[in-house]
Amino acid sequence: MRAAVLNEARSPMTIDELTVADPGPGEALVKVIAAGVCHSDLHFIEGTYPARMPTVLGHEVAGVVQEVGPGVTNVQAGNRVIIGFVQPCGHCEFCDAGRPNLCAVGGGVRDLRNDPALLRGDDPVTAMTNVGGFAELSLTPASGLLKIPDAVGMDVAALVGCSVMTGYGAVVNTAKVEPGTTVAVIGTGGVGLNIIQAARLAGARRIIAVDIAEHKLQYARDFGATDGVDATAGDPVQQVHELTGGGVDYAFEAIGLKQTAEQTYGMARRGGTAVIVGMVPPADQIEVSGMIWLEEKTLKGSFYGSGRFHTDMPRILDLYLAGKLDLEGLVSKRFPLDEINEAFDALRSNEVARSVLEIGAE
Ligand code: APR
Ligand code: ZN
Ligand code: ZN
Repeated sequence: MRAAVLNEARSPMTIDELTVADPGPGEALVKVIAAGVCHSDLHFIEGTYPARMPTVLGHEVAGVVQEVGPGVTNVQAGNRVIIGFVQPCGHCEFCDAGRPNLCAVGGGVRDLRNDPALLRGDDPVTAMTNVGGFAELSLTPASGLLKIPDAVGMDVAALVGCSVMTGYGAVVNTAKVEPGTTVAVIGTGGVGLNIIQAARLAGARRIIAVDIAEHKLQYARDFGATDGVDATAGDPVQQVHELTGGGVDYAFEAIGLKQTAEQTYGMARRGGTAVIVGMVPPADQIEVSGMIWLEEKTLKGSFYGSGRFHTDMPRILDLYLAGKLDLEGLVSKRFPLDEINEAFDALRSNEVARSVLEIGAE
């Protein structure tokens, strides 16, 4: 099968012929139909997060199950699925506590060092989050798969697999935004737009979008932002304080930078909450004022929307089918797999809301 391989950080991916193993116990082989181009992939391309190379990125994916391995009961060949990028074990302390996104085991049973899922010639190739969606096939633990109704298109389903779950979940699960509150979102890309539309759905009375690109602020308004702050036109924290008379109840970071994470904390009012969604580099320290105690502020992280995937993803799809979440409007460009490097250039230059690679046909 053909796949986009990242050979080293800060270099273009190459489209190569790989062999994929047969599904082992607990695994499924999925024909990839659509894969979103997400900033999380870009963090690995740019080397701000480490990956074992060569690797196939792509974690925002939907496809059709081709074949399942021994013991798989939740899906079968022919099912249309979202490929989740966390594969919960279902029985660890976190899974048991209803926090499968934090699953302590995950990842299936394959011994990837001795029995790789992917080979290029004789050399093993890793797959991001056991998905490796920038490829014609994904061999993945079946516990990460979610069946989807026929009415949902594959590009929309792919986005639910990362940016929608991440943004919606940050609002509904992590922050638990209440009706009538105020919200700020720094970074209005694929994830940020979903934070905005979930905040609208949650009944926030004011939703302030903060970005450095004017056309991104326009997208943000289309998805429910009530105000736009141009972060290049003066200190964005001060601008948000002026707009709200002292800060917002909930502020979200959806870029992955130390500076904007600290700005998010600064935008939260007394008693408010700052939620870090973006992948801030692991070596960075986020610094907040020692006065956190007096101001009773909360700083929290949000991973994969604190998702309970079998509850949240069907709800998200129902909200979309009922016209309450705009998922089609997120896709502003489509590329074939061969143009993956151009797709990442478009993400890097902040040109797109979200782009999707159309890899296979149903
Ligand atoms: N201040 C404000 N906005 C900024 C800044 C800045 N300093 N730098 C970049 N931006 C804006 C960009 O213009 C863009 O609209 O942040 C947005 C980022 O959007 P995307 O690149 O589409 O990123 P996305 O895929 O949404 O991911 C955001 O969430 O899941 C994580 O790993 C992901 O860290 C990433 C973050
Ligand atoms: Zn993602
Ligand atoms: Zn678990």
